[in-house]
Amino acid sequence: MIKLLRRFGGKFRRYMVIGPACKLIEVIFDLLTPLVIAQMIDKGIGAHDVSAVVHYGMVLGAMAVIGISFTLVCQKMAALTSQGMGTDIRGALYEHINKLSYAELDRFGTPSLITRITNDVNQVQLAVALGVRMLIRWPFLAVGSMVAALAIDLKLGVIFLICTPAIGLVFWFVMAHCIPYYKQLQAKLDRIALICREGLSGARVVRAFVREDHERERFAQAADDQANTAIAVGKLSSILNPVTFLVMNLGVCAILWVGGIQVNVGELTQGQVMAFVNYMTQTLTSIVYVANLVVVFTKASASASRINEVLNCAPSITDEDNEPVALPEPGNAAPAPALSLSHASFSFGVGAANAVNDVTLELPLGKTLGIIGGTGSGKSTLVSLIPRLYDAGAGSVSVMGADVRTWPLDQLRHVVATVPQRASLVSGTIRSNLTWRDEAATDEELWAALDMAQASEFVRNKPQGLDAPVEAGGKNFSGGQLQRLTIARALVGSPQVLIMDDSASALDFKTDAALRHAIRERSVRGAAEGGLPLTTVIVSQRVSTVRDADMICVLDHGSVAGLGTHDELYASCQLYREICQSQLRREELEGRQGSATPASVPAAPASTCAKEGC
Ligand SMILES: Nc1ncnc2c1ncn2[C@@H]1O[C@H](COP(=O)(O)OP(=O)(O)OP(=O)(O)O)[C@@H](O)[C@H]1O
Ligand SMILES: [Mg+2]
Repeated sequence: MIKLLRRFGGKFRRYMVIGPACKLIEVIFDLLTPLVIAQMIDKGIGAHDVSAVVHYGMVLGAMAVIGISFTLVCQKMAALTSQGMGTDIRGALYEHINKLSYAELDRFGTPSLITRITNDVNQVQLAVALGVRMLIRWPFLAVGSMVAALAIDLKLGVIFLICTPAIGLVFWFVMAHCIPYYKQLQAKLDRIALICREGLSGARVVRAFVREDHERERFAQAADDQANTAIAVGKLSSILNPVTFLVMNLGVCAILWVGGIQVNVGELTQGQVMAFVNYMTQTLTSIVYVANLVVVFTKASASASRINEVLNCAPSITDEDNEPVALPEPGNAAPAPALSLSHASFSFGVGAANAVNDVTLELPLGKTLGIIGGTGSGKSTLVSLIPRLYDAGAGSVSVMGADVRTWPLDQLRHVVATVPQRASLVSGTIRSNLTWRDEAATDEELWAALDMAQASEFVRNKPQGLDAPVEAGGKNFSGGQLQRLTIARALVGSPQVLIMDDSASALDFKTDAALRHAIRERSVRGAAEGGLPLTTVIVSQRVSTVRDADMICVLDHGSVAGLGTHDELYASCQLYREICQSQLRREELEGRQGSATPASVPAAPASTCAKEGC
């Protein structure tokens, strides 16, 4: 909490001084009030002097007005400080999260980051507001009341000195047991957020698999767990108020009893006894409020450490001092390879098996690399090393001859456009999504990208065209439309390297082929127009998508099982041959087109296939 105050409080230092100072003035008036009331009782009511009652009444009224004015100023200072700091912390967190690499994001997890940026910041904000308003008030009022009471009468003060530690002891007991629970509560809130997110974002899948009951059960368990902890804290803290008021009222009874005797013998006035009762009430209620402050600050301190954990997490991927990399000159007879990986390995955690293991390959400029392999074989992880979404743990990855660690990240990610495996758009319009890589892209460029991505037809069919709305995640588009739009988004801004991570999986074979043809044409046209030819990396589970690539990399458990053209691999790589045999028709394997019989099934007469429209 202190760290956060140091980092974000500087701007609000003025408010943090003015606010408590105003509160202090209000507290002084609060402390004077019982004395004025005592005067009113003794000199006005006791002496049957109406003018004295009116006089002291007016004094009390004036004190109330002044006190309220200072309170209002303090409230404003508290609001400005807490809201301002909350906004700044949220902004800093969001900015920092955007700098973190995939590795750090994986470590925290999205739901936890969302809870930290919302609920945890709210807790800190609440503590700051209460701090400005109350941190001075309650301790000062408690101590001030005690001192004032002792100044009136030392004998009655003994009652005070017995009641206050008694309540303090109860508080200490309750707080010591509650504080660990507050920390647990935040972690349990994270879990609820995680289940909520999974359940809501995967609502369709949950329904399709009739898993609603299971999901409800999972959510109910997490919610019950959190509720049980909250109830346990609630039960513990619920003993605070009754015990406080019991001790306080016993104290008041004792004061009235002992004070009454002293009034009778003339040692004290009635007004002084009343003042004593007021001070006693003020002290003990102040202690209750101080305890509430402790609760709020404990929660805030747990939240602050979760916020600091994110803010202190240094991004593992940085590009400080990296100079822009010069791209190869168009027409250069022997340019550096567009991509080269040298013994690159990557693992998701200490002790985990390598998701990418000792991969070495080189792709010349303008060529196409196909990456194929089974589910979980490391295809996505391998391609994410190229735009430096993850850093290779061993070996190196170079783009245009320069190690990716030496590139400024912005430049690298501008040169290398990635179409992620999970297609997603953000809310806005088609145009606002397509211009992510180049905000100044013209309509002509956007339509050209849509044409290449085989997406222009359905966009043209929309009445608003490029300005058609896109809902969060792009959920108002079909899977195939979404994929084509994300491909178009990557093509805007003329990338030199295009990575498509299984981005045509939802496209039919014809559209997939048309897409690859358009990309190849663009590469050739780019070179003919004096630019750099487009280098493409296509990840796919389909042989038909990668078979025409200049080079195919077959991955198996993160390692390269084969590298070469389709024909070379078919002849030499058993895994590739098995994949081909499981997917391609016999005639395709033999280099002929047109029939539809799977290789594993005995060939049927060609006429039968044609009749069935295969
Ligand atoms: N964020 C992550 N944290 C931990 N392990 C991961 C993470 N992402 C992937 N893995 C693991 O790394 C391995 C490779 O995953 P990757 O996503 O690269 O496979 P893939 O070949 O792209 O699979 P698919 O064809 O299903 O897309 C898998 O074993 C997977 O479980
Ligand atoms: Mg993948």
